Amino acid sequence: MIRPLIIALDVENRENMQELLKTLPKPLFVKVGMELFYSEGPAVIEQLKDEGHQVFLDLKLHDIPNTVKRAMRQLATLGVDIVNVHVAGGTNMMAAAREGLEAGTVDGRNRPKLIGVTQLTSTNEAMLQKELLIQSNMNGAVSHYARLAKEAGLDGVVSSAQEVPIIHEHCGPSFLTVTPGIRLKEDDKGDQTRIVTPEEARTLGSWAIVVGRSITAAPEPAAAYEIIRKQWEG
Ligand code: C5P
Repeated sequence: MIRPLIIALDVENRENMQELLKTLPKPLFVKVGMELFYSEGPAVIEQLKDEGHQVFLDLKLHDIPNTVKRAMRQLATLGVDIVNVHVAGGTNMMAAAREGLEAGTVDGRNRPKLIGVTQLTSTNEAMLQKELLIQSNMNGAVSHYARLAKEAGLDGVVSSAQEVPIIHEHCGPSFLTVTPGIRLKEDDKGDQTRIVTPEEARTLGSWAIVVGRSITAAPEPAAAYEIIRKQWEG
């Protein structure tokens, strides 16, 4: 099984995206987040797909079920490979997201995989308990959210790799685990708190890792990509 190394294209516009992509091997599995999608719109997805890349469109939808269903119907028409919602939106919202995706998927194409954000990798246990008033530890909160996502028909979740073993325990080994918060030992943590190295993510059993600044902010992104790919693939 090929386990994806997903590169977060956290750049301002298409020009910056092209600058970055021309330094890297292709095709890649890329993640388009709010910044790039809000600045360039669906055309950037079309371009990436035309160039042969796989695309995770990371818009983290979180709204009432009807709104999310209708939005997902639109996103499905873009032909992306993965989309996501916040599990905190509830099981009705997650089920509606899946219905919308099914309705919008063009005949003959695969429905985009639908995954749910459990707790952001920038959230730590103190924030969970003091700000969100979740009286559980991180593993308890993330595994509960993962179970809800599975019950609602999602294909997997986004979490830190640290919680992958407990997610697999609760949801089975084939439930997808997409894990950002990846850093090489020498890298700056930035705003992330629950971080692991690519090698640790592999050992913990992540299905995919999402890597942003460790590649995009490196002096030589192609060299950083190679180091990370080797650690990830083992
Ligand atoms: O630069 P860095 O590697 O920290 O980027 C991580 C990427 O993964 C960002 O694009 C961020 O939006 C995304 N992400 C995350 N935590 C989540 C979900 C997505 O960091 N739970």
